[in-house]
Amino acid sequence: QSALPEGYKLRALRPTDYDTGFLDCLRVLTTVGDITKEQFQDRYDWVSRQDSGYFILVIEDTNSSPPRVVGTGAVLVERKFIHNLGSVGHIEDIAIAKDQQGKKLGLRMIQALDFIAERTGCYKTILDCSEANEGFYVKCGFKRAGLEMAHYY
Ligand code: ACO
Repeated sequence: QSALPEGYKLRALRPTDYDTGFLDCLRVLTTVGDITKEQFQDRYDWVSRQDSGYFILVIEDTNSSPPRVVGTGAVLVERKFIHNLGSVGHIEDIAIAKDQQGKKLGLRMIQALDFIAERTGCYKTILDCSEANEGFYVKCGFKRAGLEMAHYY
């Protein structure tokens, strides 16, 4: 794995990321809504209780002051009964800030999440994406497999 640009750091999400641009980063992906600091903390606590099952990473740009979160991504590790109690990684909510796209931050994020999935014993990692992002994930080593179905409520 290659390095991030100078001054960029990849780390786990922290409760203090309510104030570092994490939610704004997610807004490049989809609607986030108005989340209070307390609601953020509650969700952070819930995620933290998912013993080795839920990892949220961020990329922080320490060149800017104060340091700012410019990328995020998550992997959920699903423990199965099939495949000899195998695990599957589910990559979710990849977002790189608009002004930071094209610097290989997305690629580094996927590599880091892939590494976690492999280290936690997953036999594969899967994700859903739009046709427009297929090329990005192919560059990250993924290939088209299956078909996504959804039931919205
Ligand atoms: N189509 C084809 N190739 C692409 C695309 C694309 N949409 N985006 C990037 N690439 C290529 C790059 O050109 C680069 O190729 P190279 O190695 O030949 O130079 C390679 O993929 C790596 O690109 P990065 O610089 O790492 O990409 P970036 O940091 O901009 O992140 C991302 C890509 C995550 C799609 C970003 O543009 C983004 O946040 N978009 C908006 C939110 C989004 O769509 N997120 C993904 C949703 S799917 C999910 O979450 C599972």
